[in-house]
Amino acid sequence: MNIRPRRNRKSEAIRQMVQETRLHQSNLMYPLFLLESPNKTAEVHSMPGIYRLGIEKMLKEIEECMKLGIKSFDIFPVVEEHHKDKTATKSYQNDFFYQAALKRVKQEFPEACIMTDVAMDPYSSDGHDGLVDANGNILNDETLEILGKMGVSQAEMGVDIIGPSDMMDGRVGYIREALDLSGFSNVSIMSYTAKYASAFYGPFRDALDSAPKSGDKKTYQMNPANSQEALIEADLDTEEGADFLMVKPALSYLDIIKQLKDNYDLPIAAYNVSGEYAMVCAAAEKGWLDKDAIMKEVLLSIKRAGADIILTYYAKEWAKQQ
Ligand code: PBG
Repeated sequence: MNIRPRRNRKSEAIRQMVQETRLHQSNLMYPLFLLESPNKTAEVHSMPGIYRLGIEKMLKEIEECMKLGIKSFDIFPVVEEHHKDKTATKSYQNDFFYQAALKRVKQEFPEACIMTDVAMDPYSSDGHDGLVDANGNILNDETLEILGKMGVSQAEMGVDIIGPSDMMDGRVGYIREALDLSGFSNVSIMSYTAKYASAFYGPFRDALDSAPKSGDKKTYQMNPANSQEALIEADLDTEEGADFLMVKPALSYLDIIKQLKDNYDLPIAAYNVSGEYAMVCAAAEKGWLDKDAIMKEVLLSIKRAGADIILTYYAKEWAKQQ
């Protein structure tokens, strides 16, 4: 044998020298859940180690993460039931606690990269990402108007990136235009390009209490069986002015991450979602898996598939171990 691949694995020094994929803190974005009550902390029961935080606690959390080299955050609001209505009115009111908190975060940490989610579900009494009519249909074009107002309201708070996660047709272009017309041509859009109708979002919906009150999200989120369709979505998002393309969830969709990376020049993001995190925690609690080792392997595999950016609940934990 003159070819022995094991020679390149024979020592830690050589293994590191030939390592193809490396992960860095700057590749990670940390999702955070904001509570209305400023000093409150509440663990998400299905996501051990992940807490919903009032603004005062969140500022401390962001400070700690920044010291660890995590500088990007995706902030989601936990909206109490009495604030919800059919048209998600609170989502575009600049005096709502979420908007006020975003402004505080940007004031205290101007160097941090703050992303926000654009979709109606946390604010909607129907728990859907779009407007629901009397027959239970999700209305596309009527929803765009609300999404546009939501994006502009968030941009007014100084956020860096808007993340449309709603999967309505035409929303990236609509939001881009709304931002530009309001003077926010510098605010970026990270589109949830290939967002699948996935059961892996369960713990996130627990965290936000945002599960649909009836029906499911299959008329707008993608069928897990499809990959060609991701290319249609990516073409549209690119044409409509997205700055980043995202695949979500990550682990069951590594082929989609690779497909987008190979076919598009925009940076590719992947969302290592709540259920992917919860599965590992549950197995680790039983002593069936080594949580730290799995975390490293999972994140590395998502990067190897082609993700430049990974949104992950492991961000802080991973950074601590560097
Ligand atoms: C809102 C939204 C969801 C997630 C991010 N933005 C849930 C959903 O679409 O039902 C899921 C994130 C996660 O599971 O970690 N549209």
